[in-house]
Amino acid sequence: SVEAPIPPAEVDLATVDLSDREWWVRPPAERHAALDRLRAERPFAFFAEPEIPGIPSGPGYHAVTRYADLEAISSQPAVFCSGKGAVSMQDVPAELHEFYGSLISMDDPRHAKIRRIVSKTFTPRMLERTLDSVRTIVDDVLARARATAEANDGVIDVVADIAAPIPLRVICDMMGVPEADRPGVLANSNIILSGGDPELIENDDPLTAFLTAGMEMAALMERLAGERLADPRDDLTTALVRSEVDGERLSHQEIASFFILLLVAGNETTRNAISQGLLALSEWPQERARWAADPSLDRTGVEEVVRWVSPVTWMRRTATQDGEVGGHRFTAGEKFLLFYNAANRDPEVFADPQRFDVGRDPNPHVGFGSKGPHFCLGAHLARRELQVTFRAIFDQLPDLEVTGPPHRLASSFVNGLKRLPARLGGTR
Ligand code: HEM
Repeated sequence: SVEAPIPPAEVDLATVDLSDREWWVRPPAERHAALDRLRAERPFAFFAEPEIPGIPSGPGYHAVTRYADLEAISSQPAVFCSGKGAVSMQDVPAELHEFYGSLISMDDPRHAKIRRIVSKTFTPRMLERTLDSVRTIVDDVLARARATAEANDGVIDVVADIAAPIPLRVICDMMGVPEADRPGVLANSNIILSGGDPELIENDDPLTAFLTAGMEMAALMERLAGERLADPRDDLTTALVRSEVDGERLSHQEIASFFILLLVAGNETTRNAISQGLLALSEWPQERARWAADPSLDRTGVEEVVRWVSPVTWMRRTATQDGEVGGHRFTAGEKFLLFYNAANRDPEVFADPQRFDVGRDPNPHVGFGSKGPHFCLGAHLARRELQVTFRAIFDQLPDLEVTGPPHRLASSFVNGLKRLPARLGGTR
Protein backbone atom coordinates (compact mmCIF):
# COMPACT_ATOMS: atom_id res chain seq x y z
CA SER A 1 0.00 0.00 0.00
CA VAL A 2 1.13 3.54 -0.70
CA GLU A 3 2.20 5.72 2.17
CA ALA A 4 -0.40 8.41 2.74
CA PRO A 5 0.96 11.71 1.46
CA ILE A 6 1.54 14.34 4.12
CA PRO A 7 0.25 17.84 3.32
CA PRO A 8 3.31 20.13 3.26
CA ALA A 9 1.45 22.59 5.51
CA GLU A 10 1.64 20.02 8.31
CA VAL A 11 5.43 19.99 8.28
CA ASP A 12 7.10 22.15 10.89
CA LEU A 13 10.10 23.58 9.04
CA ALA A 14 11.75 24.40 12.36
CA THR A 15 12.29 20.64 12.89
CA VAL A 16 13.83 20.09 9.45
CA ASP A 17 17.62 19.78 9.41
CA LEU A 18 18.94 18.48 6.10
CA SER A 19 22.39 18.11 7.68
CA ASP A 20 21.17 15.64 10.30
CA ARG A 21 21.64 12.08 9.09
CA GLU A 22 18.88 10.89 11.42
CA TRP A 23 16.37 13.22 9.72
CA TRP A 24 16.85 11.21 6.53
CA VAL A 25 15.64 7.98 8.14
CA ARG A 26 12.12 9.43 8.31
CA PRO A 27 9.50 8.02 5.93
CA PRO A 28 9.80 9.35 2.36
CA ALA A 29 6.32 10.94 2.52
CA GLU A 30 7.48 13.12 5.39
CA ARG A 31 10.80 13.96 3.75
CA HIS A 32 9.12 14.93 0.51
CA ALA A 33 6.50 17.05 2.26
CA ALA A 34 9.36 19.00 3.87
CA LEU A 35 11.27 19.32 0.58
CA ASP A 36 8.05 20.52 -1.13
CA ARG A 37 7.69 23.22 1.45
CA LEU A 38 11.30 24.31 1.20
CA ARG A 39 11.04 24.42 -2.60
CA ALA A 40 7.88 26.55 -2.46
CA GLU A 41 8.82 28.87 0.40
CA ARG A 42 12.59 28.88 0.94
CA PRO A 43 14.23 27.71 -2.29
CA PHE A 44 17.73 28.62 -1.06
CA ALA A 45 17.24 27.66 2.61
CA PHE A 46 20.42 27.96 4.65
CA PHE A 47 21.71 25.10 6.83
CA ALA A 48 24.80 24.69 9.00
CA GLU A 49 26.92 21.61 8.40
CA PRO A 50 27.00 18.78 10.92
CA GLU A 51 29.87 18.77 13.41
CA ILE A 52 32.46 16.16 12.49
CA PRO A 53 35.28 15.73 15.03
CA GLY A 54 38.61 16.25 13.30
CA ILE A 55 37.23 18.27 10.36
CA PRO A 56 36.95 22.05 10.54
CA SER A 57 33.40 23.20 9.88
CA GLY A 58 32.74 25.57 7.02
CA PRO A 59 30.34 28.39 6.31
CA GLY A 60 27.14 26.29 5.92
CA TYR A 61 25.25 25.86 2.65
CA HIS A 62 22.15 26.78 0.70
CA ALA A 63 19.82 23.88 -0.12
CA VAL A 64 18.80 24.14 -3.79
CA THR A 65 15.41 22.46 -4.23
CA ARG A 66 13.95 24.02 -7.42
CA TYR A 67 14.68 22.21 -10.69
CA ALA A 68 15.44 25.41 -12.62
CA ASP A 69 17.95 26.66 -10.02
CA LEU A 70 19.66 23.26 -9.84
CA GLU A 71 20.01 23.20 -13.61
CA ALA A 72 21.33 26.79 -13.71
CA ILE A 73 24.02 26.03 -11.12
CA SER A 74 25.01 22.66 -12.55
CA SER A 75 25.41 24.06 -16.05
CA GLN A 76 27.79 26.89 -15.02
CA PRO A 77 30.83 25.05 -13.66
CA ALA A 78 33.07 28.14 -13.97
CA VAL A 79 30.80 30.04 -11.54
CA PHE A 80 29.86 27.06 -9.33
CA CYS A 81 32.91 24.80 -9.03
CA SER A 82 33.34 21.26 -7.71
CA GLY A 83 37.02 21.56 -6.78
CA LYS A 84 36.34 22.45 -3.12
CA GLY A 85 34.59 19.10 -2.72
CA ALA A 86 31.36 17.84 -4.29
CA VAL A 87 30.52 14.89 -2.04
CA SER A 88 31.08 16.32 1.43
CA MET A 89 29.37 19.18 3.23
CA GLN A 90 32.81 20.41 4.34
CA ASP A 91 35.74 21.55 2.24
CA VAL A 92 38.05 18.61 1.61
CA PRO A 93 41.00 18.50 4.05
CA ALA A 94 44.29 17.66 2.33
CA GLU A 95 44.68 14.29 4.08
CA LEU A 96 41.37 13.11 2.61
CA HIS A 97 42.19 14.04 -0.98
CA GLU A 98 42.94 10.44 -1.82
CA PHE A 99 39.30 9.51 -1.31
CA TYR A 100 37.38 12.72 -1.76
CA GLY A 101 39.64 14.44 -4.29
CA SER A 102 38.55 12.28 -7.21
CA LEU A 103 37.19 13.25 -10.61
CA ILE A 104 33.88 14.21 -9.07
CA SER A 105 35.60 16.92 -7.00
CA MET A 106 37.81 18.26 -9.80
CA ASP A 107 37.33 21.15 -12.18
CA ASP A 108 38.20 21.45 -15.84
CA PRO A 109 40.61 21.35 -17.58
CA ARG A 110 42.10 18.48 -15.50
CA HIS A 111 38.66 16.99 -14.89
CA ALA A 112 37.86 16.71 -18.60
CA LYS A 113 41.20 15.09 -19.40
CA ILE A 114 40.91 12.48 -16.67
CA ARG A 115 37.27 11.80 -17.39
CA ARG A 116 38.15 11.04 -21.02
CA ILE A 117 40.25 8.04 -19.95
CA VAL A 118 37.22 6.23 -18.67
CA SER A 119 34.61 7.68 -21.00
CA LYS A 120 36.61 6.17 -23.87
CA THR A 121 36.06 2.79 -22.22
CA PHE A 122 32.41 3.43 -21.28
CA THR A 123 31.21 3.81 -24.83
CA PRO A 124 27.75 2.47 -25.70
CA ARG A 125 29.41 -0.12 -27.98
CA MET A 126 31.63 -1.45 -25.25
CA LEU A 127 28.64 -1.49 -22.91
CA GLU A 128 26.56 -3.52 -25.34
CA ARG A 129 29.35 -6.12 -25.19
CA THR A 130 29.17 -6.04 -21.38
CA LEU A 131 25.43 -6.58 -21.50
CA ASP A 132 25.70 -10.30 -22.16
CA SER A 133 27.74 -10.75 -19.03
CA VAL A 134 25.26 -8.54 -17.11
CA ARG A 135 22.47 -10.92 -18.14
CA THR A 136 24.48 -13.91 -16.94
CA ILE A 137 25.21 -12.19 -13.62
CA VAL A 138 21.55 -11.24 -13.09
CA ASP A 139 20.31 -14.76 -13.89
CA ASP A 140 22.83 -16.26 -11.51
CA VAL A 141 22.00 -13.84 -8.66
CA LEU A 142 18.25 -14.47 -9.05
CA ALA A 143 18.78 -18.26 -9.05
CA ARG A 144 20.80 -17.94 -5.85
CA ALA A 145 18.06 -15.77 -4.29
CA ARG A 146 15.57 -18.53 -5.13
CA ALA A 147 17.85 -21.12 -3.50
CA THR A 148 18.27 -18.93 -0.40
CA ALA A 149 14.48 -18.62 -0.12
CA GLU A 150 14.02 -22.36 -0.46
CA ALA A 151 16.50 -22.98 2.34
CA ASN A 152 14.96 -20.27 4.51
CA ASP A 153 11.21 -20.78 4.54
CA GLY A 154 10.69 -18.41 1.61
CA VAL A 155 12.42 -15.47 3.30
CA ILE A 156 15.06 -13.34 1.56
CA ASP A 157 16.56 -9.89 2.02
CA VAL A 158 16.14 -7.89 -1.19
CA VAL A 159 19.29 -5.87 -0.43
CA ALA A 160 21.73 -8.70 0.40
CA ASP A 161 20.28 -11.32 -1.95
CA ILE A 162 19.39 -9.28 -5.06
CA ALA A 163 20.23 -5.57 -5.05
CA ALA A 164 23.79 -5.63 -3.69
CA PRO A 165 25.38 -8.55 -5.59
CA ILE A 166 24.31 -7.48 -9.10
CA PRO A 167 26.10 -4.11 -9.37
CA LEU A 168 29.00 -5.37 -7.25
CA ARG A 169 29.69 -8.18 -9.69
CA VAL A 170 29.20 -5.99 -12.77
CA ILE A 171 31.62 -3.26 -11.68
CA CYS A 172 34.17 -5.70 -10.18
CA ASP A 173 34.22 -7.61 -13.50
CA MET A 174 34.76 -4.35 -15.40
CA MET A 175 37.55 -3.31 -13.05
CA GLY A 176 39.09 -6.80 -12.92
CA VAL A 177 38.76 -7.21 -9.13
CA PRO A 178 39.35 -10.89 -8.18
CA GLU A 179 36.52 -12.85 -6.48
CA ALA A 180 38.40 -13.13 -3.20
CA ASP A 181 38.62 -9.33 -2.85
CA ARG A 182 34.95 -8.62 -3.52
CA PRO A 183 33.56 -9.06 0.00
CA GLY A 184 36.15 -6.50 1.14
CA VAL A 185 35.14 -4.10 -1.66
CA LEU A 186 31.49 -4.39 -0.61
CA ALA A 187 32.23 -3.80 3.08
CA ASN A 188 34.55 -0.86 2.43
CA SER A 189 32.29 0.81 -0.10
CA ASN A 190 29.46 0.50 2.45
CA ILE A 191 31.60 2.30 5.01
CA ILE A 192 32.73 5.01 2.58
CA LEU A 193 29.11 5.81 1.73
CA SER A 194 27.69 5.07 5.18
CA GLY A 195 27.22 8.77 5.95
CA GLY A 196 28.43 7.77 9.43
CA ASP A 197 25.47 5.42 10.06
CA PRO A 198 26.46 3.84 13.42
CA GLU A 199 25.30 0.36 12.35
CA LEU A 200 27.82 0.28 9.50
CA ILE A 201 30.82 1.78 11.20
CA GLU A 202 30.37 -0.16 14.45
CA ASN A 203 32.97 0.78 17.07
CA ASP A 204 35.17 3.18 15.18
CA ASP A 205 34.55 6.86 14.95
CA PRO A 206 33.34 7.80 11.44
CA LEU A 207 36.52 9.50 10.31
CA THR A 208 38.78 6.61 11.38
CA ALA A 209 36.45 4.03 9.84
CA PHE A 210 36.29 6.03 6.63
CA LEU A 211 40.07 6.44 6.40
CA THR A 212 40.69 2.75 7.11
CA ALA A 213 38.19 1.69 4.43
CA GLY A 214 39.76 4.10 1.92
CA MET A 215 43.26 2.85 2.72
CA GLU A 216 42.21 -0.77 2.22
CA MET A 217 40.70 0.12 -1.16
CA ALA A 218 43.86 2.03 -2.10
CA ALA A 219 45.96 -1.01 -1.11
CA LEU A 220 43.85 -3.20 -3.37
CA MET A 221 44.36 -0.72 -6.20
CA GLU A 222 48.11 -0.76 -5.52
CA ARG A 223 48.25 -4.53 -5.85
CA LEU A 224 46.09 -4.69 -8.98
CA ALA A 225 47.93 -1.75 -10.56
CA GLY A 226 51.25 -3.56 -10.14
CA GLU A 227 49.78 -6.68 -11.72
CA ARG A 228 48.27 -4.78 -14.66
CA LEU A 229 51.43 -2.83 -15.43
CA ALA A 230 53.28 -6.13 -15.75
CA ASP A 231 50.43 -7.96 -17.46
CA PRO A 232 47.83 -5.65 -19.11
CA ARG A 233 44.26 -6.90 -19.50
CA ASP A 234 41.05 -5.67 -21.09
CA ASP A 235 39.73 -3.99 -17.94
CA LEU A 236 39.25 -0.51 -16.47
CA THR A 237 42.10 -0.85 -14.00
CA THR A 238 44.53 -1.44 -16.88
CA ALA A 239 43.08 1.64 -18.63
CA LEU A 240 43.67 3.72 -15.48
CA VAL A 241 47.26 2.68 -14.85
CA ARG A 242 48.42 2.86 -18.47
CA SER A 243 46.70 6.08 -19.52
CA GLU A 244 48.57 9.30 -20.02
CA VAL A 245 47.32 12.87 -19.73
CA ASP A 246 49.49 15.59 -21.29
CA GLY A 247 52.21 12.99 -21.84
CA GLU A 248 52.26 11.87 -18.19
CA ARG A 249 50.81 8.95 -16.32
CA LEU A 250 48.16 9.82 -13.71
CA SER A 251 49.50 10.50 -10.24
CA HIS A 252 49.26 7.75 -7.67
CA GLN A 253 46.57 9.72 -5.83
CA GLU A 254 44.54 10.26 -9.01
CA ILE A 255 44.57 6.56 -9.82
CA ALA A 256 43.60 5.59 -6.27
CA SER A 257 40.75 8.09 -6.02
CA PHE A 258 39.38 7.22 -9.47
CA PHE A 259 39.59 3.50 -8.71
CA ILE A 260 37.68 4.01 -5.45
CA LEU A 261 35.15 6.34 -7.10
CA LEU A 262 34.32 3.81 -9.80
CA LEU A 263 33.95 0.94 -7.36
CA VAL A 264 31.82 2.93 -4.92
CA ALA A 265 29.73 4.85 -7.49
CA GLY A 266 29.17 1.75 -9.60
CA ASN A 267 27.97 -0.14 -6.60
CA GLU A 268 25.89 1.73 -4.08
CA THR A 269 23.75 3.84 -6.40
CA THR A 270 22.54 1.02 -8.61
CA ARG A 271 21.92 -1.14 -5.56
CA ASN A 272 19.63 1.44 -4.02
CA ALA A 273 17.79 1.94 -7.31
CA ILE A 274 17.06 -1.81 -7.41
CA SER A 275 16.00 -2.18 -3.78
CA GLN A 276 13.88 0.95 -3.62
CA GLY A 277 12.52 0.40 -7.11
CA LEU A 278 11.20 -2.95 -5.84
CA LEU A 279 9.83 -1.20 -2.76
CA ALA A 280 8.03 1.37 -4.94
CA LEU A 281 6.60 -1.41 -7.12
CA SER A 282 5.25 -3.17 -4.03
CA GLU A 283 3.60 0.08 -2.93
CA TRP A 284 2.11 0.69 -6.40
CA PRO A 285 0.90 -2.82 -7.42
CA GLN A 286 -0.96 -1.57 -10.48
CA GLU A 287 2.25 -0.01 -11.80
CA ARG A 288 4.06 -3.28 -11.13
CA ALA A 289 1.43 -5.31 -13.01
CA ARG A 290 1.49 -2.85 -15.91
CA TRP A 291 5.27 -2.86 -16.25
CA ALA A 292 5.66 -6.63 -15.72
CA ALA A 293 3.21 -7.30 -18.56
CA ASP A 294 4.85 -4.91 -21.04
CA PRO A 295 8.61 -5.03 -21.80
CA SER A 296 8.24 -1.90 -23.93
CA LEU A 297 7.98 -0.05 -20.57
CA ASP A 298 11.49 -1.14 -19.47
CA ARG A 299 13.03 2.17 -20.54
CA THR A 300 10.48 4.54 -18.97
CA GLY A 301 10.06 2.25 -15.95
CA VAL A 302 13.77 2.50 -15.11
CA GLU A 303 13.81 6.28 -15.62
CA GLU A 304 10.87 6.57 -13.21
CA VAL A 305 12.66 4.40 -10.64
CA VAL A 306 15.71 6.69 -10.80
CA ARG A 307 13.51 9.83 -10.53
CA TRP A 308 11.48 8.35 -7.67
CA VAL A 309 14.39 7.00 -5.65
CA SER A 310 17.04 9.60 -6.51
CA PRO A 311 19.77 7.31 -5.11
CA VAL A 312 22.26 10.20 -4.85
CA THR A 313 20.58 12.90 -2.77
CA TRP A 314 22.90 15.85 -3.47
CA MET A 315 26.18 17.12 -4.86
CA ARG A 316 27.87 20.30 -3.65
CA ARG A 317 29.11 23.33 -5.57
CA THR A 318 31.09 26.40 -4.40
CA ALA A 319 30.64 29.88 -5.90
CA THR A 320 33.85 31.18 -7.48
CA GLN A 321 32.54 34.77 -7.74
CA ASP A 322 29.69 37.02 -6.64
CA GLY A 323 26.45 36.81 -8.60
CA GLU A 324 22.76 36.02 -8.67
CA VAL A 325 20.84 32.84 -9.38
CA GLY A 326 17.07 32.29 -9.23
CA GLY A 327 16.62 35.61 -7.40
CA HIS A 328 19.27 34.70 -4.79
CA ARG A 329 22.29 37.00 -4.50
CA PHE A 330 25.46 35.16 -3.55
CA THR A 331 29.08 35.97 -2.82
CA ALA A 332 32.25 34.05 -3.74
CA GLY A 333 32.80 31.07 -1.45
CA GLU A 334 29.09 30.38 -0.83
CA LYS A 335 28.15 26.69 -0.87
CA PHE A 336 25.17 25.14 -2.63
CA LEU A 337 23.86 21.62 -2.15
CA LEU A 338 21.94 20.48 -5.24
CA PHE A 339 19.06 18.35 -3.93
CA TYR A 340 18.29 16.03 -6.85
CA ASN A 341 15.47 14.34 -4.94
CA ALA A 342 13.68 17.69 -4.48
CA ALA A 343 14.18 18.80 -8.10
CA ASN A 344 12.86 15.41 -9.22
CA ARG A 345 9.49 16.18 -7.62
CA ASP A 346 9.24 19.81 -8.78
CA PRO A 347 5.65 20.41 -9.99
CA GLU A 348 6.95 23.05 -12.44
CA VAL A 349 8.53 20.19 -14.42
CA PHE A 350 6.74 16.95 -13.50
CA ALA A 351 2.97 16.53 -13.74
CA ASP A 352 1.63 14.90 -10.56
CA PRO A 353 5.18 14.50 -9.19
CA GLN A 354 4.22 12.43 -6.14
CA ARG A 355 2.78 9.73 -8.39
CA PHE A 356 4.99 6.76 -9.36
CA ASP A 357 4.24 6.27 -13.06
CA VAL A 358 6.29 3.66 -14.94
CA GLY A 359 5.15 5.09 -18.28
CA ARG A 360 6.12 8.71 -17.50
CA ASP A 361 7.41 10.22 -20.75
CA PRO A 362 9.10 12.65 -21.09
CA ASN A 363 10.90 12.29 -17.79
CA PRO A 364 13.75 14.83 -17.65
CA HIS A 365 14.81 13.77 -14.13
CA VAL A 366 18.16 14.76 -12.65
CA GLY A 367 18.83 11.47 -10.82
CA PHE A 368 22.10 11.12 -12.77
CA GLY A 369 22.91 14.81 -12.38
CA SER A 370 21.88 17.79 -14.43
CA LYS A 371 23.47 19.59 -17.37
CA GLY A 372 27.19 20.07 -16.91
CA PRO A 373 30.56 18.33 -17.05
CA HIS A 374 29.97 15.97 -14.11
CA PHE A 375 26.87 14.21 -15.47
CA CYS A 376 27.05 10.58 -14.31
CA LEU A 377 29.70 8.71 -16.26
CA GLY A 378 27.98 5.41 -15.53
CA ALA A 379 24.44 6.46 -16.52
CA HIS A 380 24.30 4.33 -19.64
CA LEU A 381 25.67 1.29 -17.81
CA ALA A 382 23.30 1.82 -14.87
CA ARG A 383 20.28 2.21 -17.16
CA ARG A 384 21.00 -1.01 -19.05
CA GLU A 385 21.84 -2.86 -15.85
CA LEU A 386 18.55 -1.76 -14.27
CA GLN A 387 16.51 -2.60 -17.39
CA VAL A 388 17.94 -6.13 -17.48
CA THR A 389 17.46 -6.56 -13.73
CA PHE A 390 13.82 -5.45 -13.50
CA ARG A 391 12.81 -7.49 -16.57
CA ALA A 392 14.56 -10.59 -15.16
CA ILE A 393 12.87 -10.11 -11.79
CA PHE A 394 9.44 -9.87 -13.45
CA ASP A 395 10.16 -13.03 -15.46
CA GLN A 396 12.02 -15.14 -12.92
CA LEU A 397 10.70 -13.97 -9.55
CA PRO A 398 7.04 -13.10 -10.29
CA ASP A 399 6.22 -14.32 -6.77
CA LEU A 400 8.54 -11.78 -5.09
CA GLU A 401 6.61 -10.08 -2.33
CA VAL A 402 8.17 -7.31 -0.26
CA THR A 403 7.16 -7.81 3.35
CA GLY A 404 9.11 -4.89 4.83
CA PRO A 405 9.67 -2.79 6.76
CA PRO A 406 12.64 -1.18 4.98
CA HIS A 407 15.69 -0.43 7.14
CA ARG A 408 16.89 2.95 5.95
CA LEU A 409 20.48 4.16 5.87
CA ALA A 410 21.04 7.13 8.16
CA SER A 411 22.75 9.31 5.54
CA SER A 412 21.91 12.64 3.99
CA PHE A 413 23.98 11.84 0.90
CA VAL A 414 22.83 8.40 -0.22
CA ASN A 415 19.17 7.41 -0.26
CA GLY A 416 19.90 3.87 0.83
CA LEU A 417 18.36 0.74 2.30
CA LYS A 418 20.34 -1.56 4.57
CA ARG A 419 17.74 -4.35 4.50
CA LEU A 420 14.39 -5.00 2.85
CA PRO A 421 12.65 -8.21 3.99
CA ALA A 422 10.75 -10.12 1.30
CA ARG A 423 9.34 -13.56 0.46
CA LEU A 424 9.38 -15.84 -2.52
CA GLY A 425 6.71 -18.46 -3.02
CA GLY A 426 3.74 -16.72 -1.44
CA THR A 427 2.82 -16.39 2.22
CA ARG A 428 2.96 -19.54 4.31
C1 HEM B 1 28.51 11.03 -11.11
C2 HEM B 1 24.15 9.23 -9.93
C3 HEM B 1 25.55 4.81 -11.40
C4 HEM B 1 30.04 6.50 -12.01
C5 HEM B 1 27.19 10.92 -10.69
C6 HEM B 1 26.38 12.03 -10.23
C7 HEM B 1 25.16 11.52 -9.89
C8 HEM B 1 25.20 10.10 -10.15
C9 HEM B 1 23.98 12.30 -9.32
C10 HEM B 1 26.83 13.50 -10.11
C11 HEM B 1 26.39 14.27 -11.30
C12 HEM B 1 26.74 15.74 -11.26
O1 HEM B 1 27.47 16.19 -10.34
O2 HEM B 1 26.28 16.46 -12.15
C13 HEM B 1 24.15 7.88 -10.25
C14 HEM B 1 23.01 7.01 -10.10
C15 HEM B 1 23.39 5.76 -10.52
C16 HEM B 1 24.79 5.86 -10.93
C17 HEM B 1 21.64 7.44 -9.57
C18 HEM B 1 22.62 4.48 -10.60
C19 HEM B 1 21.32 4.36 -10.59
C20 HEM B 1 26.88 4.88 -11.71
C21 HEM B 1 27.70 3.78 -12.18
C22 HEM B 1 28.97 4.26 -12.33
C23 HEM B 1 28.95 5.67 -11.97
C24 HEM B 1 27.18 2.37 -12.45
C25 HEM B 1 30.24 3.61 -12.75
C26 HEM B 1 30.47 2.51 -13.12
C27 HEM B 1 30.00 7.86 -11.81
C28 HEM B 1 31.17 8.72 -11.90
C29 HEM B 1 30.72 10.03 -11.64
C30 HEM B 1 29.29 9.95 -11.39
C31 HEM B 1 32.59 8.27 -12.21
C32 HEM B 1 31.57 11.30 -11.63
C33 HEM B 1 31.58 11.93 -12.99
C34 HEM B 1 32.35 13.24 -13.03
O3 HEM B 1 32.57 13.89 -12.00
O4 HEM B 1 32.74 13.63 -14.15
N1 HEM B 1 26.45 9.77 -10.65
N2 HEM B 1 25.21 7.16 -10.73
N3 HEM B 1 27.67 6.01 -11.60
N4 HEM B 1 28.89 8.63 -11.51
FE1 HEM B 1 27.03 7.90 -11.25
